[in-house]
Amino acid sequence: MIRLEAVSKSFDGGETYAVRDLSLRVAPGEMLVLLGSSGCGKTTTLKMINRLIEPTAGAIEVGGADVRVQDAIQLRRSIGYVFQGIGLFPHMSVEENISVVLRLEGRPKGERRNRARELMELIGLPPDDFGPRYPAGLSGGQQQRVGVARALAADPRCLLMDEPFGALDAITRDGLQEELLSLKGRLGKTIVFVTHDIFEALRLADRIAVMHAGRLEQIGRPDEILRAPATAFVKELFERPARQLAAFRDRN
Ligand SMILES: Nc1ncnc2c1ncn2[C@@H]1O[C@H](COP(=O)(O)OP(=O)(O)OP(=O)(O)O)[C@@H](O)[C@H]1O
Ligand SMILES: [Mg+2]
Repeated sequence: MIRLEAVSKSFDGGETYAVRDLSLRVAPGEMLVLLGSSGCGKTTTLKMINRLIEPTAGAIEVGGADVRVQDAIQLRRSIGYVFQGIGLFPHMSVEENISVVLRLEGRPKGERRNRARELMELIGLPPDDFGPRYPAGLSGGQQQRVGVARALAADPRCLLMDEPFGALDAITRDGLQEELLSLKGRLGKTIVFVTHDIFEALRLADRIAVMHAGRLEQIGRPDEILRAPATAFVKELFERPARQLAAFRDRN
């Protein structure tokens, strides 16, 4: 379980806030989608969960304990992180990229290799072919899959995914969304998934947290939010794509 209690973050000593008074919970096995436009505080929120950024105020719990009393390195290894943009190490092979956390943990080579191969199978990249290759020789979608495998390597209890499919074309993205849903069903991880894409949020989320200018506008199941938007901002956000779809239907 992940819990944020009245969390705020200011990078300028309190003049402006990237995240303001944010409270939410993510249940075990749940996929919570943080949805909001550029600069609304999504990445800052994710990074506070695994202590890449320290909050200015408020408290964060992961697995029942305040993150401040947990060892930052241990905490980060217990949480898989898929970075915004691709973020693979260019000088490491696919196999080395996937098993980098295990190497940091000092696990033996044979074990690292077996785990990397198992994960390559899981994400649909045949290990004999892809294991020795380097990121530059992979398509964007394949690199993104490696990023997901790397985040899963140490079998973390939760996964933080920062716009993992943001840079991909619509068809590749569609396939990866489907794979993520199926993976989630099989692995039962708790996932916080960041996106600015409304359709992606509706498709993936158990619940959506809509953020705007650092604040939480609404949190709820997709059908609840669509049926009863809590603020004018949320109403407008979901109405726009609905209008576009309607206009498209009228044209055809
Ligand atoms: N290290 C930093 N120093 C100063 N300001 C920062 C820092 N990191 C983020 N900010 C500011 O905090 C706000 C929120 O940034 P954040 O990266 O969380 O947004 P985001 O929702 O992830 O946006 P995007 O969709 O573009 O990735 C922005 O105004 C950003 O400029
Ligand atoms: Mg971001």
